[in-house]
Amino acid sequence: MTILVTGATGNVGGHVLRQLRERGVPVRALTRNPAAAKLPDDVEVVAGDLAAPETLDAAFEGVSAAYLITFDGSDGSALTTGPEIAKRALAAGVRHVTMLWSGQPGPLEADIAASGLSWTTLQPVEFMSNTLLWADSIRTEGVARDPFAGLRSAMVHEADIAAVAVETLLNPGHNGREYVLSGLEVLTVPDKIAQLSAATGRDIRFVELTEEQARARLRDMGASPEAVDHVIGWYADPPVEGYTVVDTVERVTGRPARTFAQWARENADAFR
Ligand SMILES: NC(=O)c1ccc[n+]([C@@H]2O[C@H](COP(=O)([O-])OP(=O)(O)OC[C@H]3O[C@@H](n4cnc5c(N)ncnc54)[C@H](OP(=O)(O)O)[C@@H]3O)[C@@H](O)[C@H]2O)c1
Repeated sequence: MTILVTGATGNVGGHVLRQLRERGVPVRALTRNPAAAKLPDDVEVVAGDLAAPETLDAAFEGVSAAYLITFDGSDGSALTTGPEIAKRALAAGVRHVTMLWSGQPGPLEADIAASGLSWTTLQPVEFMSNTLLWADSIRTEGVARDPFAGLRSAMVHEADIAAVAVETLLNPGHNGREYVLSGLEVLTVPDKIAQLSAATGRDIRFVELTEEQARARLRDMGASPEAVDHVIGWYADPPVEGYTVVDTVERVTGRPARTFAQWARENADAFR
């Protein structure tokens, strides 16, 4: 049976789609805008908007399990359409839903859990791909800008979040589980810079932004006031999980989490 991948044009969902295809699993990718979606030609793509559940019936048809994002990309707010999404998924015969949290528990997770669907929630800490925010300024000026120079982060590779998602979508035994996901090591900002320098062969200088500059950058990216507060709050005063290494990736997938050095090598071209 087909697996529905939402967020398939995004960081984690893109890896979920790729890894399911590598295993020969039939997949369907959901996007709000099929014309703009950069997906392989042979992927089944369906139009739909999780913020407008009446658009989702075609997406769920014939689907056994679904990977669900929990936010609305139009402004980064939490999706509040869980009851309708669950109703449509159940009516279509969906068995299991694996959700990616938005850095804090949201209403979608609660609605799906209450619906009778089998479910898993993925609770990753900071994505390694957040460093792509530095790509333009590293390319043009050799500078990385961020607030909170003292941050320590157990950042996780998006492919590892996806690998856990794939296991939960394909295999039983993950119902009702909330998986906190981290990488293998706690990195400081200088650690991240050093590893990007090593991967790209470029000298990179760090410039600390004020909190207000960081807020303005997020607003310019289209984040809602709540999303800005949440992201800044996480970086200003991260929860202990944000800088704690856990072995969930290895426990669920059977292989250790990827390192930031590997992520930096894979993505070096974006920075040079
Ligand atoms: N970055 C971090 O450090 C971090 C840490 C923990 C959790 N998170 C959470 O991870 C999530 C982002 O995941 P990501 O980075 O994989 O995604 P992403 O690269 O930001 O891409 C967003 C994806 O979501 C889809 N999307 C957005 N709104 C949609 C809607 N209303 N209906 C259907 N699809 C929609 C987009 O599809 P189309 O544009 O093609 O429609 C796109 O594929 C956020 O909830 C964020 O809070 C991030």
